[in-house]
Amino acid sequence: MSIEDLRLEYARGALDESDVALDPFTQFNKWLDEAIKAQVREPTAMTVATIDPDGTPSARIALLKGVDQSGFVFFTNYDSRKGRAIAANPRVALCFWWGELERQVRIEGVASKVSDDESARYFATRPRASQLGAWASPQSSPVRDRAELEKRLADAKARYGEGPIERPPHWGGYRVAPNRFEFWHGRQSRLHDRIAYLPHGPVWRTERLGP
Ligand SMILES: Cc1cc2nc3c(=O)[nH]c(=O)nc-3n(C[C@H](O)[C@H](O)[C@H](O)COP(=O)(O)O)c2cc1C
Repeated sequence: MSIEDLRLEYARGALDESDVALDPFTQFNKWLDEAIKAQVREPTAMTVATIDPDGTPSARIALLKGVDQSGFVFFTNYDSRKGRAIAANPRVALCFWWGELERQVRIEGVASKVSDDESARYFATRPRASQLGAWASPQSSPVRDRAELEKRLADAKARYGEGPIERPPHWGGYRVAPNRFEFWHGRQSRLHDRIAYLPHGPVWRTERLGP
């Protein structure tokens, strides 16, 4: 079978201007709750797109760990490729795809580091193996082989023994303060619904976009 012949019809729902919340965060939380209830696999997984200092775009998945009116929070290594990109250009885009619900959410905004306290608080809730991994992994830098990674993990384990593991200074969160949202719902015959939210003074204005 050719991939040209792979196609689905979307018929699970719709999105109308009259259905969406006035506030895009309310709308996002409603859809995220529905994705969790529908048991979408990794409902908090989102594509995070950044721009490297030379203008090259790059994208990868990260997990959303918090959302409120101040923005969307994820945690990572500040020295990673994405961390270096954000340091040079904090404009990022996020994209969620909840396939089982035939829904996509796109968000554009500006990323800034969360406070050290907020990063430390979240780091303390992570499983011990993930905490050690944050020390062991030189994220986005070349490593000779798997053995080198495992040696770095063993060294971190030996260093901490049974004691508490502090947050590495190069590991923490970013909060993306959005300036644009778009909610997409698959419809039949590719006539999908798209509702965008754009800031208009202190409120958000919605507009329908062609699919
Ligand atoms: C489902 C999933 C969840 C992930 N969650 C995170 C995350 O929360 N933080 C993170 O730094 N990387 C996460 N990753 C790994 C990233 O996709 C990526 O490989 C890593 O952050 C390095 O990206 P960079 O070199 O572009 O900085 C996740 C990957 C997948 C597939």
